[in-house]
Amino acid sequence: MNTPGTDQLREIEKSGKRVCIQTFGCQMNEYDSEVVKAALEKQGYVLTDSEEAADVVILNTCSVREHAENKAFNKLHLLCREKKNGRPNLTVGLMGCMADNYKEKLLKDFPQLDFVAGTRNVMDVTRLVKEIEEKRSRGVPPRNDSAGQDAQPTRLGLARNGTQTVIARSPAGATKQSKSLQLAAISKEGWWEEYAETVPRREGVRAFLPIMTGCDNLCTYCIVPKTRGREVSMRGGEIVDQVKKLADQGYKEIQLLGQNVNSYGRRYVGEDESYRTRKEPNRFPELVAAVSQVPGIERVSWMTSHPKDASRELFEVMRDYPKVTHWFHLPVQSGNNRILKRMGREYTIEEFHEKLELLRKLVPGAAVSTDMIVGFSDETDEEFEETRRVMEKFMFDSAFIFKYSLRKGTPADRLPDNVQQAVKEERHRVLLKLQKEVSRKVNDAWIGRQADVLFSGRSRVSDQDLIGEMRNHKRVVVKAPAAFMGNVKQVRLTRLKDETFYGELCEV
Ligand code: 5AD
Ligand code: SF4
Repeated sequence: MNTPGTDQLREIEKSGKRVCIQTFGCQMNEYDSEVVKAALEKQGYVLTDSEEAADVVILNTCSVREHAENKAFNKLHLLCREKKNGRPNLTVGLMGCMADNYKEKLLKDFPQLDFVAGTRNVMDVTRLVKEIEEKRSRGVPPRNDSAGQDAQPTRLGLARNGTQTVIARSPAGATKQSKSLQLAAISKEGWWEEYAETVPRREGVRAFLPIMTGCDNLCTYCIVPKTRGREVSMRGGEIVDQVKKLADQGYKEIQLLGQNVNSYGRRYVGEDESYRTRKEPNRFPELVAAVSQVPGIERVSWMTSHPKDASRELFEVMRDYPKVTHWFHLPVQSGNNRILKRMGREYTIEEFHEKLELLRKLVPGAAVSTDMIVGFSDETDEEFEETRRVMEKFMFDSAFIFKYSLRKGTPADRLPDNVQQAVKEERHRVLLKLQKEVSRKVNDAWIGRQADVLFSGRSRVSDQDLIGEMRNHKRVVVKAPAAFMGNVKQVRLTRLKDETFYGELCEV
């Protein structure tokens, strides 16, 4: 095999087109962006953070709240305007949940947008970019440039039950024969197999690993089932093999990703949708135990969970397997049963509380974080007050608080969005303030205690200090030698500043 010499490498670098990927939204999007970056780099593209310097700009988008979509729309407007007014060779692409949410409409509304790739077509992005650039270099102008009329988008793949989307603009002169653009013929229940072959770029000692995608729950406010589609899980053996590879590369912590990891294993890639029913027990506890026993792995964590699937069995795995995290993100959403019912959450606040107590009993020292939505359809002052009281009583370690944002196409689209914006803002403010006090109280109780800390990086403030995390994910800064990076050491916690602990090594 011919390997390129230094000169050739320089040439590649000089001619390498520059790509800028901007990511909005969740950890899964972050992961997808890293996968696309790695795949493009492999093809000779050079990564840049600068939109101005880029030949290709890709927005990886989120649809969970209107605010996130608006940010991406604004960015897209600006990019398209620039492309129209003087940067005609800029390639603009959009991926992520907004691709699945709006599909072809995006190409109609943004004539300068070159392609749209859905969440299950991450691996098609490189091919799309190359094809578009190659067509342009052959001088094939986009149809709308030449004719001044709206381009007819070419569908590169039809969405299976509306969830998988790859579309690119048809170039001028495209005829019925010009099917080469249909290269992204739709995947992909086999989505993960290709995906897993592209090792994303990672930093530090923590590697993220998607184990499932999609969501079969019916939370009425949530757009995810529409954008990411039905739940599908990767096979356990393949996941463990991936983890072994990651451990060999020196990663110490694995964070298992999915919209709903707790229902892992109900249906695997390639299985018929009716194969497993929702009644079947999930296989997540087994998977966590297996992953945690891979040699070299010091910690296993996951994001994100639905409380109804968080089981005693999983809590026991947290208790019994020493490499398993003591952090649980358990979104409660509301403290009022009528609102929980309207949200389609499938638990009462009493059931949630029982689970939380069980977790805390079986896993002492566990940290629990949560999500809450204020101002959901019809939420009265009294109902909000119950949520406030829940926050006070349940003593979460931390909480993300969101103002309800009605999403078109969700079941709650049929319910009135009747809490005024000013009221949502006030409730948001009240909860933020309260949680700050609660977090402070919970964290103060840790001062003076000892904890196992996994060191993951250097402190930005002092090069004598390392940053690490306790088993329950609380951040700690400690004076320690750089050689401790990637190791777990006992630390005494001495003080707290904002959400960060400071401590000292128990033995050097
Ligand atoms: N409005 C506000 N918050 C939402 N979330 C999901 N959908 C919406 C919406 N339409 C929040 C939930 C979820 C988190 C990821 O985002 O709290 O747990
Ligand atoms: Fe959305 Fe509910 Fe699924 Fe989470 S569990 S992704 S909130 S539908």
